[in-house]
Amino acid sequence: MSIILKSPEEIQEMRIACRLAAEVLDYIAPFIQPGISTAEIDRLCSDYMTNVQHTISATLNYAPPGYPPYPASTCISLNHQVCHGIPGPKSLKKGDILNIDVTVITPQGFYGDTSRMFIVGEASILAKRLCQVTYECMWLGIAEVRPGAHLGNIGHVIQRHAESNGFSVVREFCGHGIGRGFHEDPQVLHYGRQGSGCELQADMIFTIEPMINAGKAAISELPDGWTIVTRDRSLSAQWEHTILVTESGVEVLTLSAANPPPPKLIGGALASATNAAIAALPPAPVS
Ligand code: MF3
Ligand code: CO
Ligand code: CO
Repeated sequence: MSIILKSPEEIQEMRIACRLAAEVLDYIAPFIQPGISTAEIDRLCSDYMTNVQHTISATLNYAPPGYPPYPASTCISLNHQVCHGIPGPKSLKKGDILNIDVTVITPQGFYGDTSRMFIVGEASILAKRLCQVTYECMWLGIAEVRPGAHLGNIGHVIQRHAESNGFSVVREFCGHGIGRGFHEDPQVLHYGRQGSGCELQADMIFTIEPMINAGKAAISELPDGWTIVTRDRSLSAQWEHTILVTESGVEVLTLSAANPPPPKLIGGALASATNAAIAALPPAPVS
């Protein structure tokens, strides 16, 4: 395993790439209403990336070994879909929950990767709790990040929080290093033991993107070769940020003006710094 440490110049380019990825989600948020299809959401995001941002989708035609080329500019995973949902003609209805995952490539060649959950109208108590607990899982993981901490500490706190709320952690997909490559080392597991894994160092950049199921952890792949669903068809949620390990702790790179603030259970310096960073960003792009 070899983790690419980023230079100050590369870090600056990654701040830009990551903010652009987050701004695609800011842009699309007002469109998430009953009646819109996931294909229309994808088209709007694609047009925004191409015509406004001059970024390229990292997912369109992405074809890792053993996979057919991914056919869309975003991943949209609805209800019991865990990840890599392919946008299509299906329309959103009240009570749906969905994850929109955006990865952009800037003209300078840097990747920014982030995803959020959206709730259509009013969701069930279970669906809302799953989205909230998953958001807390991601942030608890982020709060573990500092030089000298072990990578496994992130997975440990995520697993503990998910399972203590009666939910389960998907094992087959993980966070990843990112930079000039989409999926670099290390693999960032969302489960595991305190003290396991490599030691974090300043200038590492990776994602934290827990997938949490309301039922059992097991997944299945649909015949389209991409879409992952819960085997028991229970609801699944995911949130994703790209983060930088700094000398003093962590910087969340995929922040934007309309980014939800850290959850209440994250306090102290991390919450203050994050809220200040969000407030300092230019307003959300107009849709
Ligand atoms: N953005 C996803 C991630 O967080 C990867 C999507 S790959 C795709 O790593 F091909 F499904 F789009
Ligand atoms: Co990712
Ligand atoms: Co992603």
